Amino acid sequence: MKLIGNFKMNLTYPEVCKYLQTIQASENMIFCPTNLYLPFFLEKGLTVGIQDVSEYSMGSYTGQTSASQASSLGVKYAIIGHSERRKKYKDENLKEKINQAIYNNLKVIYCIGEEEGQNKQEILIHQLSLLEGVIHSISIVYEPVWAIDTGKVPTNQEIEETVLFIKEYCQKKFHLSLEVYYGGSVDEENIKKLKTISSLDGFLVGKASYDSEKFNQMSNILFLQ
Ligand code: PGA
Repeated sequence: MKLIGNFKMNLTYPEVCKYLQTIQASENMIFCPTNLYLPFFLEKGLTVGIQDVSEYSMGSYTGQTSASQASSLGVKYAIIGHSERRKKYKDENLKEKINQAIYNNLKVIYCIGEEEGQNKQEILIHQLSLLEGVIHSISIVYEPVWAIDTGKVPTNQEIEETVLFIKEYCQKKFHLSLEVYYGGSVDEENIKKLKTISSLDGFLVGKASYDSEKFNQMSNILFLQ
């Protein structure tokens, strides 16, 4: 089981300092703070991921961070294809980003999920098509867009069916056996029920992850109970 925290663009520097004093990290927790703060999490000995990488290897790309830069710092994971980036930044070069990450020894956490009213299976198959040719270092997060930051969560049965569909499809189509996580409004109250989904390998948490008290509670429920 893995517990991944996606801080998005949250916390000021003093808040990060406080967070680092109060978080009780375990080895299966992955922290994905804003790029500026990555070194502080690494200095603490925590396992760290970056929220996105550039599709380019290096060069004149103002504002971007390359997979090689992240990797040289000690970052181990890269989230790619988060729905906020797909939607707000029209993130399109996801295959190049996946390739950059894997080439630079980052493990990819690839986010997929349908919007409200879309044909789920069709969308997932389309988003998974980028995995053609990938043979290792990738895991999937199933995040229905309508569940992110809304407090709405699918039923356990819906998540279980979708996770199994993703695993079976990837096995059949790409011969990949993958870990699949769930993301979307997971918090310290619902994680107990969600962790009973047997096919699931972990969670990607937004809002509840950058509150150290809540994230500590979640890790206790997941790893100690
Ligand atoms: P949320 O975000 O937990 O705040 O819904 C999840 C995500 O966007 O990864």
